Amino acid sequence: MALNGKVVLLTGASMGIGEAIAHSLAAEGARLILISRTKARRLRTCSPTHADDSTGQAGEVDPDPAGLALGAPARFPELSIADIVTMNNTNVNGYMFMTHAVLNQAMLPRDGGVGTILNITSTTALEAPPFPGEAVYHANKALQEAFTNALRNELSGTNIRVLALRPGVVATHFHEQRVGFDKEMYDEFMEGFQPLLSEDVASAAVFMLSQPLNRSIKALDVVPSGVYLLLLFHVSFFKSPVALR
Ligand SMILES: NC(=O)c1ccc[n+]([C@@H]2O[C@H](COP(=O)([O-])OP(=O)(O)OC[C@H]3O[C@@H](n4cnc5c(N)ncnc54)[C@H](OP(=O)(O)O)[C@@H]3O)[C@@H](O)[C@H]2O)c1
Repeated sequence: MALNGKVVLLTGASMGIGEAIAHSLAAEGARLILISRTKARRLRTCSPTHADDSTGQAGEVDPDPAGLALGAPARFPELSIADIVTMNNTNVNGYMFMTHAVLNQAMLPRDGGVGTILNITSTTALEAPPFPGEAVYHANKALQEAFTNALRNELSGTNIRVLALRPGVVATHFHEQRVGFDKEMYDEFMEGFQPLLSEDVASAAVFMLSQPLNRSIKALDVVPSGVYLLLLFHVSFFKSPVALR
C-alpha cells in the first residue's frame, strides 16, 4: 500500500471529512498525527501516532480539512464581526500558519523538501454559488485555491507537491453549524438531492495521496452527481426596477 508507514499530519480530525480521512488513512497503514480542538467522536479504531513519537518525520503528507462557515442566512452586512473574524482566522490564518509550520518544521528540512500538502477547499471557491450568507466562506475558499496554486509555484525546485480537493455538498456537522443548528433550514438546503458522505471525500483523498510523488492530481472535484453546477439563476434580479432601467 502506497501510504503504509507514511507520517500524516491531519487537521480538523475530530469529525466530518477529517475524521473519515483519518479512518481511511489508518486502514492504509499510515501513521497519523491528528489535530483538533475537540476530541474525536469515532476515532478509537485509528491508533493515532502521538506527535512526540515522530519528531523529525512528521509531514510526509499534510491534508488540511479544518474549516467552518458561520451565520447563514445572514448577508455579509448583517454578519457579526466576531463571526467574520472566526471564519477568517480558521479558514485563512489557521490554514496558512499550519502550512507554514509543516513546511518549516518537517517538509523543507528533509532532502531539500519532500512531501504532499493536500488542501480541502470547496467547489464554492470557483463557483461562489448564491447560497444565502456565505460571502466570507466563499471568499476564504477562493483564497485557499489561490494559495494552493501560488504555493505550488513557490515550491518548484523541491519535491513537495501541493494539491486541492474540492468537495461539493457533504452531509456533516459543517452544514448544521452553518445554519445555526436550525433543523428546518438544514433540511430545506439538503432537499432534492443526495449529499455526499464524508467517506466519499475520504476515498478521493486517499486516491490523490496514493499517487507516486512524481504524479500530481493537482485538483479534484468530488460532488453529488445530481449537482451539475452550484450556480443558480437568480431570476428576480431581472424583474427589479434597477435592472430594467
Ligand atoms: N461539508 C461540506 O459540504 C463541505 C464542502 C466543501 C468543503 N468542505 C470543507 O471541508 C472541510 C471539513 O469540513 P466538514 O464538512 O468535515 O466540517 P465539520 O464536520 O464541521 O468539521 C470541521 C473540522 O474543522 C475543525 N474546526 C472547526 N472550527 C475550527 C477552528 N476555529 N479552528 C480549528 N479547527 C476548527 C473542527 O475541529 P474542532 O472543532 O474539533 O477543532 C472539525 O474537525 C472544511 O474545510 C470545509 O470548508 C466541506
